[in-house]
Amino acid sequence: MNKEMINQYIQNNKERFVEELLDLLRIPSISADPAYKADVQRTAEKVKQRLLEAGAEQVEVCATAGHPIVYGEKMISQDLPTVLVYGHYDVQPVDPIELWHSQPFEPIIKKTPLHPEGAIFARGSADDKGQAYMHIKALELMLKTNTLPCNIKLMIEGEEEVGSDNLGVFVAENKEKLKADIILISDTAILANDTPSITVGLRGLSYVEVDVTGPNRDLHSGIYGGAVANPINILCEMIASLKDKNNKITIPGFYDDVSTLNDSEKAELAKAPFNEEEYKKHLDINAVYGEKDFSTMERSSIRPTLDVNGIWGGYIGEGAKTVLPSKAFAKISMRLVPNQSSKKITELFKNYFESIAPAGVKVQVKPHHGGDPVVTPSNNPGYLAAEKAMHETFGKKPVPVRGGGSIPIVALFEKELGIKSVLMGFSLDTDAIHSPNEHYGIFNYIKGIETIPLFFYHYAQLFKK
Ligand code: BES
Ligand code: MN
Ligand code: MN
Repeated sequence: MNKEMINQYIQNNKERFVEELLDLLRIPSISADPAYKADVQRTAEKVKQRLLEAGAEQVEVCATAGHPIVYGEKMISQDLPTVLVYGHYDVQPVDPIELWHSQPFEPIIKKTPLHPEGAIFARGSADDKGQAYMHIKALELMLKTNTLPCNIKLMIEGEEEVGSDNLGVFVAENKEKLKADIILISDTAILANDTPSITVGLRGLSYVEVDVTGPNRDLHSGIYGGAVANPINILCEMIASLKDKNNKITIPGFYDDVSTLNDSEKAELAKAPFNEEEYKKHLDINAVYGEKDFSTMERSSIRPTLDVNGIWGGYIGEGAKTVLPSKAFAKISMRLVPNQSSKKITELFKNYFESIAPAGVKVQVKPHHGGDPVVTPSNNPGYLAAEKAMHETFGKKPVPVRGGGSIPIVALFEKELGIKSVLMGFSLDTDAIHSPNEHYGIFNYIKGIETIPLFFYHYAQLFKK
């Protein structure tokens, strides 16, 4: 593999690579909001176009019951291994919009302390359009420089941020088409730009909405207050009771299947450089918070969680309205770790939460999407290829880390297709994904485009042995 050639190609095309990404970021492909359906479709068409221009074949926009999946491939030989690249072109909603310093779909480049070379500010820049697009540019590079060493399939979906339900169906129905030796995904972070890492595990997810209903209508809080159950008060009490004073989750059986780390695994995790002072400073908090007897790194990766994501009900307009509300609502997420099962935990939550409802209210739990946790191997050819590639481009051996987020489809790929994934992402945890002012470093974007061809090279080499 001629690294000179790769670097030369990147140097010659860097500005266009950035421009093309900006172009993709201008389309608001928010999968959660039906108002953006046409924009999501338009984004899929654009991804298809870009895949074709890069030299992919059999490129199609595959319709699903929801948003489409874009597929493309370049098959060069039956005798060579096949890498299946997965990514997503859908993005999270932008609210609260007033906290953005620039428009979420009018990308701009600005320098930040962590991104002295500049970062692209736009919704989806890091999660995941920017990271998925690196693969399309890496494919272009490998085809233009005649260095593609094995077969490649690319599948870029439009529903990751809403749970990938239809991708699950697509995968089950297209097992032959998706046949591959390894799955390569860039949708996670590295520890820092001078500390590369590879994610070797992701948390699972159970997501539910809870409704508490009291009286059949909003009441005068003077006439009825004190004599009728207030659903918001009750909801708060119920939620508060889900954790004890040590921040352990109180749902019976919740921890039953949690696999714990042995001492050497704990020591391995503690090796990853982490500065708690920086962490607090970045978030403007005066203390960290969480489950007793676990470190911040552990709390945010190998321990399960329960968090309210949103809570509403009653009067929230201007001024004061004296009202005893009829209803209260909350959205609650639980992050799961190996070997918890999303299905089982959702059921456990539902039964328990409904069982603790006091007389005077009705409680309903509605399950949303979910996904199972995964651990990916750190000793297979896929991991080793990513390790070699990053070592060469960062000049430092990447460390394995367990990620706190979820990519539900990864567990499903393993179950349905029997294929393991390599989570070789390039963003930073501080890039504000899902938050206002999401951004992605130009350094990270270009580093990805540089590293991916090396991954392919090493993977093909290791596979031969
Ligand atoms: N790319 C993220 C997941 C992620 C981020 C993993 C950072 C590790 C580090 C992905 O797009 C995402 O946001 N997933 C959702 C789950 C989905 C079901 C909505 C999540 O983790 O909340
Ligand atoms: Mn993502
Ligand atoms: Mn996301």
